[in-house]
Amino acid sequence: MLIGVQYGDEGKARVIDNIAHEYDIIARFNGGPNAGHTIEVGDKRLALHQVPSGVFHPDMLLYVGSGCVLNLEKLLQELKEIKNNDLVLDERLFISDQATVIQPHHILLDKITGKEIGTTANGIGPAYADRALRRDGTYLKNLRLGDVLDDPQLARETIVGNYQQTVARYQLSENDIQDKAEHIIVAAHILQKAICRNPLFLDGLVRRGKNVLFEGAQASMLDVVKGTVPYVTSSHTIAGSAYVGGDLSPQYHRKTIGVAKAIMSRVGNGPFVSEFGGATSEEYCAEEECGKTKHTREFEEHAYSVSELLQSGDLFKLGIALRMLGNEYGATTKRPRRMGMLDLVALAHNCRINGVDELYLNKVDCLADFDRTFMKGIPLVEGYLLEGQEISYVPGTSKGNRNAQSIIKYYPHIKGDLSEIRNYFSLPAETQELVKAIENLLIVM
Ligand code: IMP
Repeated sequence: MLIGVQYGDEGKARVIDNIAHEYDIIARFNGGPNAGHTIEVGDKRLALHQVPSGVFHPDMLLYVGSGCVLNLEKLLQELKEIKNNDLVLDERLFISDQATVIQPHHILLDKITGKEIGTTANGIGPAYADRALRRDGTYLKNLRLGDVLDDPQLARETIVGNYQQTVARYQLSENDIQDKAEHIIVAAHILQKAICRNPLFLDGLVRRGKNVLFEGAQASMLDVVKGTVPYVTSSHTIAGSAYVGGDLSPQYHRKTIGVAKAIMSRVGNGPFVSEFGGATSEEYCAEEECGKTKHTREFEEHAYSVSELLQSGDLFKLGIALRMLGNEYGATTKRPRRMGMLDLVALAHNCRINGVDELYLNKVDCLADFDRTFMKGIPLVEGYLLEGQEISYVPGTSKGNRNAQSIIKYYPHIKGDLSEIRNYFSLPAETQELVKAIENLLIVM
């Protein structure tokens, strides 16, 4: 089991690529097209959303569990791109027939209601809400992949009916819904060979000795219950949920691998205690122009000089510089990621709720950038101050998260270009010491 233990974009796919050879199957248990992982092998670069990592490993089976919500047309596009890269997924990709189909009204609703949260506008929240709603008066709400194959007419009525209901509710004009419904039904039939009709499929493979790696989408702090509610995604992202949405019993659990980043990032709105520039950064990153993200990488590269920002003495500007240096922009949405100090309170908290056995800390080399700044050392958050009290957990409410203040400790700068170092023992002594200090703090916190 491998999950992100911050706000997503921790570099999970990269870790998976390194450990994939130990497994036979990579399985997803949550999320949908809101996920995005870019995999680079040699000169090949693929941006995946719904297909699990591991496509570059020819013998690896890929499983999409019942906990996922799927945009079928986007999935077909993704498969086409994979095929264009000369990769074969026939007999390798299996999708649970219990996975929920994202319907056009979900996307419509997300565009209307998801703005404040800063969702990816893929219909994720409304699809999970409808999954829980099950059926509402006349129409089925939770349309599953198997339902589309079993009864295309029911699927057609469901998709059209739900859409018309939404359009009427929000007084919008109707937009080719018959065609859209047809495309979804056709897509399900094109995918038919990959759709797995046996809910015990994964169980059978594991009982025959195969090893599964569950790949979490999004991250622990975006969990629909345990995260920074309401600024979260709508699925369960934490480790325990893999044994619901991943279609395997918890008796097979072996270990939990967490992935974190040495300089944190977050996309979308919501509390981010250690953010450089706080609310200014949150607002700046959410800004749009003509309905599109304003501060893209191209914009920032054109507008700013990294060295000036690094020396500006302004934390908000420092965040911009670190984003530019770390190339922290959404792969699909192009949104600038909000940047923050490594928050050990949040990291320790999330290691606990997920029972993390092993932790990967990505982008440690980026910490060397602090040496070029006005900061007196590398800042790490080692405590929170909330209403005059020092606490060492992430508060359970939005207000608590908004009001918590970082207690920062500075560590000696690390120097030089560490980006090519692949081994802990080859790191300069001060970097080894810093990593060791982080490890020790996470154990005792
Ligand atoms: P949704 O999942 O599209 O509903 O978005 C809800 C929140 O989760 C927003 O703040 C998104 O930016 C965030 N989010 C969703 N998917 C990802 C991801 O893959 N990486 C990072 N943040 C994500």
